[in-house]
Amino acid sequence: MNSHIFPWLYDAFMRTAERGRLAGWRRSVAAPATGRIIEIGAGTGLNFRHFRAGATVFATDRDLAMLRRARDRARWSSVDILLVVADAEALPFRAHTFDDAVVGFAFCTIPRPARALTELRRVLQPRATCRLLEHVRVDHRVVGKLQDWATPVWRRIAGGCRLNRTTLEILAASGFSLDSVRSHVGGFVVEVVARPRSLLVAANDREAVMGGRLRASGDRRPRMGRFPLLSELKKADR
Ligand SMILES: C[S@@+](CC[C@H](N)C(=O)[O-])C[C@H]1O[C@@H](n2cnc3c(N)ncnc32)[C@H](O)[C@@H]1O
Repeated sequence: MNSHIFPWLYDAFMRTAERGRLAGWRRSVAAPATGRIIEIGAGTGLNFRHFRAGATVFATDRDLAMLRRARDRARWSSVDILLVVADAEALPFRAHTFDDAVVGFAFCTIPRPARALTELRRVLQPRATCRLLEHVRVDHRVVGKLQDWATPVWRRIAGGCRLNRTTLEILAASGFSLDSVRSHVGGFVVEVVARPRSLLVAANDREAVMGGRLRASGDRRPRMGRFPLLSELKKADR
């Protein structure tokens, strides 16, 4: 699909839900975040109006067209929002840069969510909180199967979104402990508060998960480079 149309279609698709309960769920996820916050897969910026005054948000996404649409929402926001073009699987920030993370409906789309979580662990402070609003595979035999069945078609029309992502399991296997999970729409949408577990515990878990091959997040060299702010991109790219 044309990448310039998709952000507009995304907002149009979400509009009715935002007027309903979705805006409240977003607020409940974003408002408690404080300090220097990273949002990954920020998209068109539908979370921005829910951040609390005093926060500084680094809103990242790999899709320039989505961030362009987020620009006005960032401009009118009461908090400082920096738009950064970045792949969640290779974040251009130093280790332990952020106090909190907020994610909204991004882990369904990120191709390798475990990689993105390893990166998130790296850039978060050890005591940071990761707050997520995600749709997930429902733990129900029939509904779960329906989600599996619909995913190949849905992925093609919805920008790579998988209806059957088992994000809670992926979080737990990627070194996060789940402090709280609130379910909506019969478990299809979840609000999650998660924290990075200590590296030792996480490494042991990953060893088990990855069949004995240890690949803790510490193995990766942190990227220290400067990151491109949306406002700095050449006009020609727009
Ligand atoms: C369904 S949209 C969610 C947008 C927004 N967070 C919201 O709550 O409405 C998923 C977003 O994840 C982004 N995304 C997918 N894979 C990504 C990756 N590897 N790194 C960064 N962003 C990614 C997409 O570009 C898209 O903007």
